[in-house]
Amino acid sequence: MIYFDNAATTYPKPEAVYREMDKCMREYCANPGRSGHKLSMEAGRVVLEARELLAELFHAKKSENIVFCLNATDALNIAIKGLVEKGDHVITTSMEHNSVLRPLKHLENAGIETTIVPCGKTGELDLSHIEKAIRGNTRLIVTTHASNVTGTIMPIKEIGEIARRNSLKYIIDTAQTAGAYPIDVEEINVDVLVFTGHKGLMGPQGVGGFYVKEGTALRQMREGGTGSMSESLIHPELLPDKYESGTPNTPGIAGLAAGLRFIKEVGIDHIRMHEERITRYFLEQLSKIEDVIVYGPGPLEKRAPVVSLNIENKTSSEVSFYLDNQFDIATRPGLHCAPLAHNTIGTGVHGAVRFSFGYYNTEDEVDKAVKALKSIVKEECC
Ligand code: ALA
Repeated sequence: MIYFDNAATTYPKPEAVYREMDKCMREYCANPGRSGHKLSMEAGRVVLEARELLAELFHAKKSENIVFCLNATDALNIAIKGLVEKGDHVITTSMEHNSVLRPLKHLENAGIETTIVPCGKTGELDLSHIEKAIRGNTRLIVTTHASNVTGTIMPIKEIGEIARRNSLKYIIDTAQTAGAYPIDVEEINVDVLVFTGHKGLMGPQGVGGFYVKEGTALRQMREGGTGSMSESLIHPELLPDKYESGTPNTPGIAGLAAGLRFIKEVGIDHIRMHEERITRYFLEQLSKIEDVIVYGPGPLEKRAPVVSLNIENKTSSEVSFYLDNQFDIATRPGLHCAPLAHNTIGTGVHGAVRFSFGYYNTEDEVDKAVKALKSIVKEECC
């Protein structure tokens, strides 16, 4: 199997991730932070290590500003719903995933309005559109760091500056970039930076979270046991407990810690350069095949390792099915849970076939995919 669906979840994971999760389950998976016995302390230590590695990765000064939850969607729900109130206005872009668009649509029922700023055909954002959308009641801007459909990288630093100048809150979704792209929360004006554990951070599914800036007035979504201040019926305000109630996904966080150690060892620049090389090579090879339409920005520095394409007169589902069935190549067809991004690039009806690359992909695999696409174009195989 050739796996080109890393934007959905990275696969395989580093060996150390499998080993750490197995070790956690067998040797120390007690409830972290709930007791003082050795196993609970060891579980707590590993959770803290993961938090510290994330703080280091994102340049957060304090690890307590890193909060664990289920995934990026969970984190975005907490962040978006915890920052707005009735009468507020939110600005987002047409390249967002449903994990941003659906919570915002739902919030219309609570009297919160949203402006969706249209992006260009390659998914690129014109910053002046954000500025023009700001009104007296605008409270929040939410954008992705990179589109999961075209890979288009958003100018998060500049958007953060617009937010700062206009006293707005800013949420960034790093689902497609964390682990390969440098992100510095001290340098970017961001209130909540959302991450998921199972993509570029190389951890398992079921763990994600966010960084919250010191002093950002973000309401919690749930109350419950935290292992701290148990005498009080009032949910604690201290971080990260304010946003983390109930037993965490300790094996998942342990796996994530191993993924983060791997990334630190290999280096995010090395990982990104490898993924860029594979993406560049794929794009070069694609440009030689007639009847293949490629979406997204031209310059590689504007694109995360995601390439969506279509073949003339074939649906994305057909192509992805042939790739899987005849060539053992995994891609993702359709709308990628981002219907407005597809409307933006002109693929709102049938979607596109997405190839998304990870650290373990090779040029040899790209050669096989290109050969398979040529064969599909010529209808040799199917
Ligand atoms: N958001 C993930 C994707 O783009 C699941 O496939």
